Amino acid sequence: MTPPPSDPASAGQELGWTPIAEEAVRAASVLHPKEGALPRPNRRRVLTVANQKGGVGKTTSTVNLAAALAVHGLKTLVIDLDPQGNASTALDIDHRSGTPSIYEVLIGEVSLAEAAAQSEQSPNLYCVPATIDLAGAEIELVSMASREMRLKEALSSEILDEIGVDYVFIDCPPSLGLLTVNAMVAAQEVLIPIQCEYYALEGLGQLLSNIELVQAHLNRELSVSTILLTMYDGRTKLADQVTNEVRNHFGDTVLKTVIPRSVKVSEAPGYGQTVLAYDPGSRGAMSYVDAAKEIAQRGVEMKERSGTA
Ligand SMILES: Nc1ncnc2c1ncn2[C@@H]1O[C@H](COP(=O)(O)OP(=O)(O)OP(=O)(O)O)[C@@H](O)[C@H]1O
Ligand SMILES: [Mg+2]
Repeated sequence: MTPPPSDPASAGQELGWTPIAEEAVRAASVLHPKEGALPRPNRRRVLTVANQKGGVGKTTSTVNLAAALAVHGLKTLVIDLDPQGNASTALDIDHRSGTPSIYEVLIGEVSLAEAAAQSEQSPNLYCVPATIDLAGAEIELVSMASREMRLKEALSSEILDEIGVDYVFIDCPPSLGLLTVNAMVAAQEVLIPIQCEYYALEGLGQLLSNIELVQAHLNRELSVSTILLTMYDGRTKLADQVTNEVRNHFGDTVLKTVIPRSVKVSEAPGYGQTVLAYDPGSRGAMSYVDAAKEIAQRGVEMKERSGTA
């Protein structure tokens, strides 16, 4: 039998493989990476996935990047901080009202360890779900002590060291309220997904000025480390215009990988799966793996810059 080619796409064609065989090889390269595990960051990276604009791919990017890092050997935790509970759905984590969730963690009723569940998608992937109870949290938190610090305090839990968590992704709701502020205080990095469409940049100014406010008053360490272009449709000129505009404006912060608009990506959560599990050979899965590799590589570069490699 011919051994699997190292570059599945081109080698498959040379060997006269059928599209199905090529897809199978691509799927294998996603689920069983030959190059082994991705490099671990020198310290835990906590990324808040935020954009107050709705439907830009925050949740989709959170779960698929987290799954890609987990499949590539890195222990990854997703915090679902949106009362819609979409990240919990996509990772097939129970999030009926009353389930120990991020709501109980924020109000101090349960510990992070009690609320975290392991995802079936990978033994390296954990999720703290969100239930509808979180909808009231924005208001309930207002009168609580250290209301902006609650998630940060929860993340200092020893359980993260015990598990050896390398990456935490916090999926924010589409607003700039107290939940998103908690996420920005708890993180070192903000990852902003930007949808490749006309109004993409509208509202970004407001997001950036909120980030500056948090930097100035609550979390000096915070920076916008990563911008991910999502739902790119190569058939439209507009997608390229938006891509160029975002790259001109934000430079190297923007990942080289762009996530294409793909039906598979949008179908996966309906099956309680990430696109990596739903269709690992698809363009959507491959692009999320590529984006995750870039993120992990940046983690190494940060390590080198800080001189602790
Ligand atoms: N690359 C993609 N291709 C096709 N559909 C996508 C893609 N990314 C996201 N979608 C779909 O777009 C919709 C919005 O995505 P998603 O829920 O990730 O956005 P969001 O920013 O988390 O939304 P919200 O602001 O409501 O939390 C979903 O139906 C999702 O399945
Ligand atoms: Mg969402």
